[in-house]
Amino acid sequence: RTYEVGYFVGSLSSTSINRVLSRALIRLAPEELRFTEIPIGDLPLYNPDHDADYPPEARTLKEAIARSDAVLFLMPEYNRSIPGPLKNAIDWASRPWGQNSFDHVPAGVIGASPGQIGTAVGQQSLRAVLSYCNARQMTAPEAYITYSPELFHDDGEVTDESTTTFLRDYMSEFRDHVVRVLTVLPRS
Ligand code: FNR
Repeated sequence: RTYEVGYFVGSLSSTSINRVLSRALIRLAPEELRFTEIPIGDLPLYNPDHDADYPPEARTLKEAIARSDAVLFLMPEYNRSIPGPLKNAIDWASRPWGQNSFDHVPAGVIGASPGQIGTAVGQQSLRAVLSYCNARQMTAPEAYITYSPELFHDDGEVTDESTTTFLRDYMSEFRDHVVRVLTVLPRS
């Protein structure tokens, strides 16, 4: 069978290196995985005043997660933490109380930065949030990508063999993780 992966690019930048990384991962992923981006750029700022009547953008977000078998986060690191627009999207999806969209959903975390530690600190923030949201995270392998334009073409082609192998293996492990979680408890 195939698995629907909804992916979040945690950046609003029109030249996002994390979107380039998403193209690379989609090219290298096992064929059982199908990918759809879950956009976050049009969401208003979360406010509990709207819990009783979510705005259309937030309903669309929750419906997109509900349609996904798994979610994948491709995240830059802002000041060693989660970029505001992504945290805002997670807050919308986690509410209203009792209707947390991430409950038991298989999840992967990966990120790219030009820096040497490749979003490692920011990912720890994201993992803490996803733990609280009860997402079923793949905890290993971890993936901290130090981005350089020589390594990634804009269309997602990876120029270096060891990075190609690493990213292909990461997506293969992610497929295995999704299968394991959904074998124990399928998404209804
Ligand atoms: C950054 N950047 C950055 N990089 C990093 O490795 N650690 C960090 O804590 C930060 N902090 C940070 C804060 C803010 C507000 C900005 C705008 C940038 C640099 C960041 O990695 C770089 O801009 C990437 O290109 C962001 O990823 P996208 O948006 O291109 O996917």
